[in-house]
Amino acid sequence: MVRMTWLASLAFFVCASAAFAGTSNSLMDVHPDSKSLLVANTDSGTVTLIDLEKKMAVREIKVGKRPEGVTWIGNGPLAAVTVNHEMAVVIVDTATGKIEKTIRVPAEPYGIVSDSKGATAFVSHEYPGLVTEIDLVKGVVVREIPAGVMPRGIALAPDGKRVYVSEFYTGVLNAIDLASGKIVDSWKGHATDNLARHVLLHPTRPKAYVAHIRSIIKVNDGAGSIFPHLSVCDLKLGEDRRRVSFGMDTFNGVYVTTNPWESAISPDGKRFYVIYAGTNDMNICSVVDDDYKEIERINVARTGQNPRAIRVSPDNKNVYIYNAMDFSVSVHTTSMAYVSSIKACEPAKSPEWVRGKVLFNTANSPMSSRRWVACSSCHPDGLHDARTWQQGEGMRKTTAFIGMAHTHPLHWSADRDEVQDFEFTIRSKLMFGLGLIKGSIKSKVGFHKQELEEKTSDRSKDLDALAIYCNSIEHPLSPNILAPGKLKPAAERGRAIFQRKEVGCASCHSGAYFTDSSLKLPFVLHDVGTGRSDKFERMGTKYDTPTLLGIYRTAPYLHDGTALTLHDVLTTQNKDDKHGKTSGLAKNEVDDLVEFLKSLPYETSPEVTPNTVPHRLLSADKKQ
Ligand code: HEC
Ligand code: HEC
Repeated sequence: MVRMTWLASLAFFVCASAAFAGTSNSLMDVHPDSKSLLVANTDSGTVTLIDLEKKMAVREIKVGKRPEGVTWIGNGPLAAVTVNHEMAVVIVDTATGKIEKTIRVPAEPYGIVSDSKGATAFVSHEYPGLVTEIDLVKGVVVREIPAGVMPRGIALAPDGKRVYVSEFYTGVLNAIDLASGKIVDSWKGHATDNLARHVLLHPTRPKAYVAHIRSIIKVNDGAGSIFPHLSVCDLKLGEDRRRVSFGMDTFNGVYVTTNPWESAISPDGKRFYVIYAGTNDMNICSVVDDDYKEIERINVARTGQNPRAIRVSPDNKNVYIYNAMDFSVSVHTTSMAYVSSIKACEPAKSPEWVRGKVLFNTANSPMSSRRWVACSSCHPDGLHDARTWQQGEGMRKTTAFIGMAHTHPLHWSADRDEVQDFEFTIRSKLMFGLGLIKGSIKSKVGFHKQELEEKTSDRSKDLDALAIYCNSIEHPLSPNILAPGKLKPAAERGRAIFQRKEVGCASCHSGAYFTDSSLKLPFVLHDVGTGRSDKFERMGTKYDTPTLLGIYRTAPYLHDGTALTLHDVLTTQNKDDKHGKTSGLAKNEVDDLVEFLKSLPYETSPEVTPNTVPHRLLSADKKQ
């Protein structure tokens, strides 16, 4: 019986498969005729049309803030692009460079795939966890389908019956049946699986490939904290389905790779490629047609800087790689011989910012000597990894850098006062990096706040550049509002509660950035009753007030991640009323308060406050 279903589903895959591009999410999509491609330049807010015969960019089209996915619509010339920070999918005419239509969609559109006819597209929405179905002819959203927690990767089955999504922070693969609009199957990996932003399907065999990392939160060591992985899931129906995971470091013997980002497969299903955004390299493998080994290593190849997309042309003649921090697409033969490189766009921002972003994303020297860990392995694009790390000083939830240029000091215990202090992290056993400052810095002894005494800014151009990048992370307004500056009624009631003197929230979470953090000495820290049950805590239970901007999407909460929801922060984790006086609030008042927290930011925050740091991107450096 099981065997029958497997054969039946296999038959489906074989019949329906056609070598068309666009069936898995990517920043790049090759036209079905293999003569041109589109690439989305996330930082520039543009999409570039590249002529692959002339090997040059034809035009760059402005689409909006943070395009994260692109797909041709049928045979073109129209294409659809997800604009992550603008709750929009934009339809562009690549022949004229005009925007044909802007489709309003739910928050955080990330990946996009479309059917071969160009009739329907499917979009993953990381928050609030949806797939939308878009009628491309009418230009409207026709369905919103719950798709799991924070899905990013999305792929359309060749028979058009299912879409598969990967959850960014768990690596879980979910199958959505399009007839019923429901998740009908799930492939869970290891609890440590993380940062899975892509799903790839084999064109004929029932297999899905998910590239991701594993975050080993109990180990604070450059050779044991973070591992590159590739999970292969059996999609056939029946009981003997498997999900196997390959460690892509040991896969290469002693050659380590970092931050697997995207994979690609040749249209004949024989070659498999996976790129590593942290080490600027890739694996070329052959697909093994058994159910155990799955892939066999052919070679490792170098790529350009920070590869973020890889595609094989439908005619199976070329492989294209988008080297995001070279701002170019490189052309290769299928065995990865280099052919040429085509410029996709100008650098989006100042040279310092570009250098900072390069350093932030790389696990190569001087950031790390062991090549397992990059800053971005825990702070993808300056956001968080949804993990609480067991560090020497105690349990520490990874923070996102939202509003950071204005919310110094840094770290939950305010033991750092400038981003350049992360020189200590680069040189620590987490990264084993040579460091960016020439010469020595005072070494750490115990948990003494050495970083506050050692001035690390203005000592290295690269380190200052890293700070400029970290202090530049932009965040859109919360999607949980009615319009900029306009709260929903419940959130409006919540705001009044937040500001009530006897509840006290606004006394610490004050000002436009919702924190009383300041670089004025002595730093203001508070004991709000958290941390006392943490047997690992070594720095005391007074913490720096965190900003509340963007917290609708940064669970879990508190320095030790013990609050899984915002409700928990105000209830189960605040039994003694030390963290605002919440015990007197009725249940509906707590709900309203949470609605308010979920609405932040509801207006644009000021570009300068008395606490703004100097090393950041100035508006003059922004090209968008
Ligand atoms: C293993 C995961 C991991 C890696 C790798 C990592 N971080 Fe972090 N980062 C964390 C955690 C956890 C915290 C919170 C620690 C604390 O507050 O004590 C944090 C906090 C920060 C903060 C403070 C944010 C704030 O608002 O207080 C900055 C800045 C930062 N990291 C920058 C970096 C840089 C730069 C690198 C690379 C040199 C890096 N991180 C590498 C996990 C990581
Ligand atoms: C005495 C100062 C103070 C008051 C009053 C206060 N907070 Fe906080 N808040 C903090 C500190 C300090 C932390 C960090 C505690 C920790 O991580 O253990 C925090 C953490 C939080 C967090 C978690 C943020 C994150 O990213 O994990 C939320 C949400 C929050 N506060 C909301 C509120 C609300 C709502 C109120 C009013 C009921 C309130 N706070 C009152 C100081 C305060």
